[in-house]
Amino acid sequence: MKLSLTELAERKRQGEKLVMVTAYDHPGARLADAAGVDLILVGDSASDNVLGYDSTVPVTVDELLVLVRAVVKGTQHAIVVADLPFGSFQVSDEATLANAVRFVKEAGADAVKLEGAGPSLTRVQALVGAGIPVMGHVGLTPQSATMLGGYRAQGRTAAKAQKLLGDARALEAAGCFSVVLEAVPSAVAKRVTEALTVPTIGIGAGPSCDGQVLVWHDLLGLTDRKPARFVKRYADIGTQIQGALEAYAADVRSGAFPAEEHTYTIPEEELDLFERATEEHEHAEQRDA
Ligand code: KIV
Repeated sequence: MKLSLTELAERKRQGEKLVMVTAYDHPGARLADAAGVDLILVGDSASDNVLGYDSTVPVTVDELLVLVRAVVKGTQHAIVVADLPFGSFQVSDEATLANAVRFVKEAGADAVKLEGAGPSLTRVQALVGAGIPVMGHVGLTPQSATMLGGYRAQGRTAAKAQKLLGDARALEAAGCFSVVLEAVPSAVAKRVTEALTVPTIGIGAGPSCDGQVLVWHDLLGLTDRKPARFVKRYADIGTQIQGALEAYAADVRSGAFPAEEHTYTIPEEELDLFERATEEHEHAEQRDA
């Protein structure tokens, strides 16, 4: 059964931690769901992790829609959150709503996520008003990393921490069911988490958040980039995949693959008939040449 937003809020009240992970395809979603994660985020991090762009900025709504659809099909229990990519919610409330509707209607997302507060607040209100659950995202918001002075921790002065707390509160007031806190000092994230009634999901925001999120490729060791300080790598799947591919290539080149057990047979008499028919056909061709 699908986890509900009411259950999420209840988990916070009960002090039970929430688990979120990104996923970008059907097998990934299936594995995350089977592992019992509560929320799957189809992040705009697909941009650099899956599609080969340099940052999260270039990925489009159309590109993410394909991934969200695949993830939804692979998920039974977790809440699937579709990230609104850069450009899809910056223009107007109307354009934001039109884009979010596509994620819900065409791809089956349960909710959407958008970055920032300020102008994002009326976007949240418009989406929630239309019945689309919204997750907020403050702290390091990668879509505006240039404005923030790069990929660095946020809220590290009293004034900035206060602004961050205000933004998180405003997102809750606008109707967000949850707020991501990215790259925020643990003490500040703790204060924000205590101030909100909706769950906070931390990434680089310390242990006091109501839940945690990690990016699939970071968690599983599928990237060759230097991981951020807040990443914990739980596996080294990239090395395993490369090892398997090298072994496959070596087997093909040496003739060790395919072996007999990987091949199909044809009954002896059918093979005779086939060879005779082929020979006759070839003789006929030679005669006519
Ligand atoms: O796109 C993403 O993966 C995210 C997480 C880092 C929260 O926004």
